[in-house]
Amino acid sequence: MKKLFLTILTSLLFSGMLRADEGMWIPALLHKNEAEMQAMGMKITADDIYSINHSSMKDAVVLFGGGCTGEIVSDQGLLLTNHHCGFDWIQKHSTVEHDYLTEGFWAMTMDEELPCPGLKAKMLRNMVDVTEKVLFNITDETTDEERAKIVKENIDKLVKDQQAMSDYKVTVESFYLGNQYFLMFNEIFDDIRMVGAPPSNIGKFGGDTDNWVWPRHTGDFSIFRIYKDGKPYKPDYHFTISLKGVEEGDFTFVFGYPARTNEYLPAVAVNQEANVVYPVVVDLRTQILDIYNKYQEKDAKIRLQYASKHADIGNGWKKWMGVIEGIHNFKGIEKKQAFEEAFYAWCQKQRNRVIYTRALREFDNVYAEFEKYRMATTYLTEAGFAIELFNFSSVFDPLTEVDKDTPKEELDALIEELKATAAGFYKDYYMPIDKEVAVTMLKAYRDAQPKDFRPEILNEIDKKFKGNVEAYVDYVFNRSIFASEEKTNKFLDGFKPSQAKKITKDPAFVAYKSIIGFYLTEVYPKSAEYNAKINNLRRVYMEGQMKMIPEVYPEKRLYPDANFTLRVTYGKVGGFKPKDAVTYGYFTTLDGIMQKENPNIYDYVVTDRLHELYDAKDYGRYADKDGTMHVAFIAGNHTTGGNSGSPILNAEGKLLGLNFDRTWEGTMSDLIYDPSICKNISVDIRYVLFLIDKYAGCTRLIDEMTIDE
Ligand code: ARG
Ligand code: ASP
Repeated sequence: MKKLFLTILTSLLFSGMLRADEGMWIPALLHKNEAEMQAMGMKITADDIYSINHSSMKDAVVLFGGGCTGEIVSDQGLLLTNHHCGFDWIQKHSTVEHDYLTEGFWAMTMDEELPCPGLKAKMLRNMVDVTEKVLFNITDETTDEERAKIVKENIDKLVKDQQAMSDYKVTVESFYLGNQYFLMFNEIFDDIRMVGAPPSNIGKFGGDTDNWVWPRHTGDFSIFRIYKDGKPYKPDYHFTISLKGVEEGDFTFVFGYPARTNEYLPAVAVNQEANVVYPVVVDLRTQILDIYNKYQEKDAKIRLQYASKHADIGNGWKKWMGVIEGIHNFKGIEKKQAFEEAFYAWCQKQRNRVIYTRALREFDNVYAEFEKYRMATTYLTEAGFAIELFNFSSVFDPLTEVDKDTPKEELDALIEELKATAAGFYKDYYMPIDKEVAVTMLKAYRDAQPKDFRPEILNEIDKKFKGNVEAYVDYVFNRSIFASEEKTNKFLDGFKPSQAKKITKDPAFVAYKSIIGFYLTEVYPKSAEYNAKINNLRRVYMEGQMKMIPEVYPEKRLYPDANFTLRVTYGKVGGFKPKDAVTYGYFTTLDGIMQKENPNIYDYVVTDRLHELYDAKDYGRYADKDGTMHVAFIAGNHTTGGNSGSPILNAEGKLLGLNFDRTWEGTMSDLIYDPSICKNISVDIRYVLFLIDKYAGCTRLIDEMTIDE
């Protein structure tokens, strides 16, 4: 019976694997996918997408800032990305007089484009497989420690030698968890200017409520420009824009920078993530968000103060709920277990495969032991770090090192810096929220973590405050200098080195030190040890899977987990059935925006201008052939965080839209991909152009694009 069950599961698993939608492919190896892509409808070649011998699409895709993707759409370096990717820059350029977040921003001339010092874009110029060089001198006898040392030495040497000969930034990246290595040559651009952004009620329409959710109506785009030597950058390639839109079944591909996935984890690890860690994180974040919501609903000022904090906490919170449910509904753990049975059977066939069996067995012990440390870290980051006052007090740490020998200029500079940090902190700080969060989180932290394995401060609450967390929190917030802007400024203004003690004795600072101190001494060293062990086991297990899968399932091609390097993924446009009796269509329109409109809810406000255009049906050439204005669409591309802003392209390689999210039901795709529910969400390029052209009247940008009617 068990065997039959497993066979069914295995066939289920691999029927999924056969589907073409799964996979994030290395552009330099895309010729291996070319036939399949063309069979699915692609009309161009792998060489058109990635080539180092002539200009190709890769010359128009960049890693934007720290974790998004952007694409070049004109011969003058015009760059598109998501609104949520440009958000920080739009916010930074905003003032009370010019609130670009609320009003939108449009540079009507090139002179009005705003520099963004610190913002960088990275473009891949070449990548070369150097696996043999990196693994040179490693044998079956090499221990894990020796291996790490040799790999590092080989990489350092390679980078040093290559960097001496190249103008590009040279790095070596690990793929397949240390089973393959590529030398990467990246061009870095550091003069990026802000060109345009719609108002937030378009660029973030639906806000956190609609985040991760389909049907979606967000105009999630912003516009930048790459400059080089002070002039607009002339790229080797820029994308042509298609106004044809998409239809069910159309071939699409997404070209961008996925950050992290973990598709080859053993069942025990997926179980720990989805059934142990995420539920705690979700529970803690639910409690925090409930508190935020309560205050945010009551007061517009507080809503703004906590908008960004809410979005940060809410993004992961919602995603992980989706992951938990997806893993459960789609039997993720059982599928992994079934695969492991098949893997064991394969190992049994040859004696030298025992290293793989051993690794797979070893996971169980290591993850079981690791859990204690993993949870300690989770409570630290989710509960401990949620208390704003504690975090804030830590910025005064450098002042505790100051003494009478510290040069005056140095001290003055430090004080100035701290004053600026403090001003930024209090601007968006509302103490009643923080106090409530502190009480809730400290209770959760104390109740969940064992007495003999938690920060001392939690034991002290039990001892000195008889377990009364409220009393403790009152004491901290009443006594800490840092709980009051006035007291903090006074303290900083009159600071003398002899007062360092005031900081070390401050109850908020004491709490912070206790929490972080516990982590640094008791948790981190052990965690690092376990992580090193786990990474070695994963490398060995990955090596086994790389041998087993082609033998046992020859139809299936392997792809490496996302690692912040450029990838291609492809799939077809189409709706799906998220659950029983529910079917989703594949596109949304402006009508849906009007249906969702609610002038009383910030995220659902529709501006008069958009109403005018809608009422007049003034869509120009951006209307779909059905006469409506299409806003967003979904397709079966395997994307993840970092893919935001990525170009989604049609069979001819023309730009259809900007990827910006996934559907909630399929967020488990970072751990297990199921083509029936894992869909990526993109904003339709025609809606983007309609907004630039008709809504904002910034026609100079339209004029420099190459548009295919
Ligand atoms: N879920 C998307 C991503 O993971 C978009 C997040 C930004 N939008 C928001 N409403 N918080 O990045
Ligand atoms: N919204 C994500 C991002 O910002 C994309 C995703 O996770 O699908 O990269």
